[in-house]
Amino acid sequence: MQKQKYPPGTKLEFASAKHEFHHSLSRYIGETEKNLILVDRNTEKHCLPLLIEIMPLISQTPYILLDAGEKEKNIRRAEHVWTELMKYEADRESTLINLGGGVITDLGGFVASTYQRGIRFINIPTSLMGMADAAIGGKNAVNINHIKNQVGTFAPPETVMIFPAFLHTLPKAEMLSGFAEMVKTALAFDASLFKELLTTRIEDLPEKRKDLIFKTASLKHKVAVQDFYDKHIRQCLNFGHTLGHAFESLFARKGKEISHGVAVAAGMICESFLSQQLSGLSKKELIQIQSFLQNNFPPLEINPEDIDQMLHIMRHDKKISGHEFKLSLLTQAGKCQHRITCSEEMIQQSLEYYISCSA
Ligand SMILES: NC(=O)c1ccc[n+]([C@@H]2O[C@H](COP(=O)([O-])OP(=O)(O)OC[C@H]3O[C@@H](n4cnc5c(N)ncnc54)[C@H](O)[C@@H]3O)[C@@H](O)[C@H]2O)c1
Repeated sequence: MQKQKYPPGTKLEFASAKHEFHHSLSRYIGETEKNLILVDRNTEKHCLPLLIEIMPLISQTPYILLDAGEKEKNIRRAEHVWTELMKYEADRESTLINLGGGVITDLGGFVASTYQRGIRFINIPTSLMGMADAAIGGKNAVNINHIKNQVGTFAPPETVMIFPAFLHTLPKAEMLSGFAEMVKTALAFDASLFKELLTTRIEDLPEKRKDLIFKTASLKHKVAVQDFYDKHIRQCLNFGHTLGHAFESLFARKGKEISHGVAVAAGMICESFLSQQLSGLSKKELIQIQSFLQNNFPPLEINPEDIDQMLHIMRHDKKISGHEFKLSLLTQAGKCQHRITCSEEMIQQSLEYYISCSA
C-alpha cells in the first residue's frame, strides 16, 4: 500500500516552563497579523489569562467565545465562527489560535481549514485529551445530528504547542478521560510507556510526570506523520474504541452519560480479551491490562440484555463491513494490528467477559 505523507510544516512543540512557551509562541504571533483566538467559556476563564500573562501581546488579539462541551461541536457553531472571522476581516494572512480541549481544536481546525479555502491555525491544547491526542494529527471535524465527526477535513495545524501547566485547572474527570487515551496509545505502540503508566498517579502528570504526556504526544505525532490519511497504522489508535463507542452510546440511550475515557477503558478490557482470543496477546498481559484498567476507571454496569443493544449499535457503527467487524487489536502490550476480522459471537463473548470480571 502506498504511504501517504503528512503535509510538511507541522510541528509539535513542548514547553515545561513559561519562558519556553513564550519563546515558541513568539515565533508564530507577530504584532501586525490579524490573528484570532478561539476559546470556550472554561478556557476563557482558566487558560486565556495564563496565555496573556506569558505573552502580553495576546491581550490585543480578539477572541471568539463558545459554550463548553461536545454539543458545541456542530455546523451551526462552525458557521458562527466563520461569520466572526469575516467580521474581524480575517484573511489568508491570519492565524486562528485554538486554545482549548479537543472540541475547540476539532472545530477550530475545521473552521480554519475551510475559511477562504484554508487559513493557518495553531493548536494550544488545554485538556489532557487534547495534549495527548486530539490536538495532534490534523483531523478536524464537527458532528452532524449527534453522529460524531461526520463532516471534517484532514488539514494539519502549523504547530501544536503543549504546555502542561494548563492542566492545573482541568477537572479530575477530564484528566481521567485523557489518561485513557494515553493508555490506549501506549498499549498500541509502546510497551515501555505502558509500563511507566502502570505506576503513574494521574495527579502527577501535569508536573512530575509531564514527560509521559510528551512521550504520548510524540507517538501520536509520529503515527500521524506515517499515515496522515488514516489508511493503515493510524487505525491502531482506534484500539478500545469500537467497543468503547458502543458503551458510550448504550449509556447515552439510557440517559446516563459516561465520559469518553471511561467508555474507552471498558472498551479496552473487551478488546484486550479479543486480542487474547484472536491476535496473540498472552493471558498474563490480558490480566495485567484488565486489572490496571479496573483499578483506575470506574466499572460500567451492564447486564446480558444490554449486549444485544450494544451489538445493534455496533452494526450501525461505521467500522463494520458485512456481518463482521474489523478491529485494531493487540498482538502484545505495545504492538497492535489493524483490520482484524471479528465475528459478532466473539464480540458477545468479550462483553460477557467484561461482565464476569466486573462481578
Ligand atoms: N481530532 C482527533 O484526532 C481527536 C482525537 C481524540 C478526540 N478528539 C475529539 O476531542 C473531543 C474531546 O476532547 P476533550 O475531552 O478535550 O473535550 P472538551 O474540549 O470538551 O474539554 C473537556 C472539558 O474541559 C474543559 N477544559 C479544557 N481545558 C481546560 C482547562 N485547562 N481548565 C479547565 N477546564 C478545561 C472544557 O471547557 C470542557 O468543558 C471530542 O470531540 C473528540 O471527538 C479528536
